[in-house]
Amino acid sequence: MAIINENYLKLPGSYLFAEIARRVTKFKQDHPAASVIRLGIGDVTKPLPPAIISALHTAVDEMADAATFHGYGPEQGYEFLTSKILENDYAARGITLENDEIFVSDGSKSDVGNIQEIFGINNIVAITDPVYPVYLDTNVMAGRTGELKDGMFENVTYLPCNAENKFTPALPDHKVDLIYLCSPNNPTGTTLSKAELKKWVDYARDNSAVILYDAAYEAYIREDDVPHSIYEIEGAKEVAIEFRSFSKNAGFTGTRCAFTIVPKTVLGKKANGEQFPLNTLWNRRHTTKFNGTPYIVQQGAAAVYTPAGQQQIKAIVDYYMANAQIIREGLASAGIEAFGGVNAPYIWLKTPKGLSSWSFFDKLLNDVHIVGTPGTGFGPSGEGYFRLTAFGNRENTEEAVHRIKTRLSL
Ligand code: MLT
Repeated sequence: MAIINENYLKLPGSYLFAEIARRVTKFKQDHPAASVIRLGIGDVTKPLPPAIISALHTAVDEMADAATFHGYGPEQGYEFLTSKILENDYAARGITLENDEIFVSDGSKSDVGNIQEIFGINNIVAITDPVYPVYLDTNVMAGRTGELKDGMFENVTYLPCNAENKFTPALPDHKVDLIYLCSPNNPTGTTLSKAELKKWVDYARDNSAVILYDAAYEAYIREDDVPHSIYEIEGAKEVAIEFRSFSKNAGFTGTRCAFTIVPKTVLGKKANGEQFPLNTLWNRRHTTKFNGTPYIVQQGAAAVYTPAGQQQIKAIVDYYMANAQIIREGLASAGIEAFGGVNAPYIWLKTPKGLSSWSFFDKLLNDVHIVGTPGTGFGPSGEGYFRLTAFGNRENTEEAVHRIKTRLSL
C-alpha cells in the first residue's frame, strides 16, 4: 500500500470556504424558505464586461479555423499579454521588468500555493495572522511546519495583525526566510503604506529573506500612499516575488488568469552557500507542471488593457467599492466597529459583545440569513473578528445592511 503524505493530516479537516459552504448547505436544507445572502467567499458577482466577452468570442472563433488555431502556447504566457502587463501595470509606474520575469498562470491561488515548492524544506516561514489560508496550508502540506498546537502550527512565525497595531505586522524578532505579505489585505481589507512596506523590504535585504507579495486586490487601492506594486519600493526587485490576478479586478474568478513576477535579481542559495536565481527555478517548475493558460483566456485578459476594457473594469471595481462603503456605513450605524473597505473589497468587523467568530457566524446566519466568514478561520488573531465581502450585488448588499441594522439582536 502506498504511504500517504501525513503532513496533510496536520491540517484541520476542511478548507475554510468548504466548511462554510457545508454549514450554509445544511442551513438551507433546514430552512428552505430562507433567503440567504452570501457575503462570505470573495467571489465576484458582476459578469465579464463587454470588451472582454468580445475578445473571448473572437478567440473562440480563431480556434475553429486551422489557420488561426492555437495548440500549446508558451507556458509563461503569450507576448501579446505579457507586453501589456509590462507596459500598463509596471512601466506606467516607473518599474522596469523584462518579459521573462512574468509568468502567466491560471490563478494566484495556484501560484501562491505552488511557490513554496522552489524553496528548501528548512526555511522559516512568516505569515501575517490572520492570513489567506493558502499560504500556510501549502507549507503545512509540504512539511515545512510542525503540528497544530493551540491554533498555531509549530515552526511558523505568526505576525499578529489586529486593531491594536492597526493591522500592521511588527518585524519578527528573529530571522525568517520566507515572508508572505498581502496588500490590500485579504482578509482584513487593510493596506501597508509605502513606509511600512519599505521596512519589510529592508528587513528582507538585511536578512537574505524573500518576500512573497500578494497584490491580487491592487485595483481597489484608492489612497495615494498605498503602493500598487512592491517594486515601487527601492530594493524590492532583489527580494520580492509579486502575485497579481485578473480575478478581482476583471471578474476572472471563473475564467482563471493571473501572473507572477519573479525578477531575475531575486536570489536564493544552495546548501553550499552558492547563490541561485529563483526565476530559473520557477521557470523550471512552471514549464514542467503547467502547460499554459488557455489562449482564449489570455486574449480575454489582454482585452482588460484596451481603453474600453480599462473603463469597463474600473466601473465594476467602483461598483464593488460603493458596496464596501454601504457596508462600512451600515455597520457603523449599527454600532459595530469595522476596518478595511477603503482600499479593498473586504470589511473586517469586530464581533459585537465579544462573541467568538463562529458564534457570530451562526448568529448572522440564523437571525438574518447572512453568510460571512469567521475571522478565526484565517488564524488565531482573527478570533473576535468577522469578514464581509463587497462583491455582492447592490440589492443584496443593501438588504444585508438593512437586516443587520433592523433585525440582528445584539
Ligand atoms: C476569499 O474569499 O478569501 C477569496 O475568495 C479567496 C480566493 O480568492 O481564493
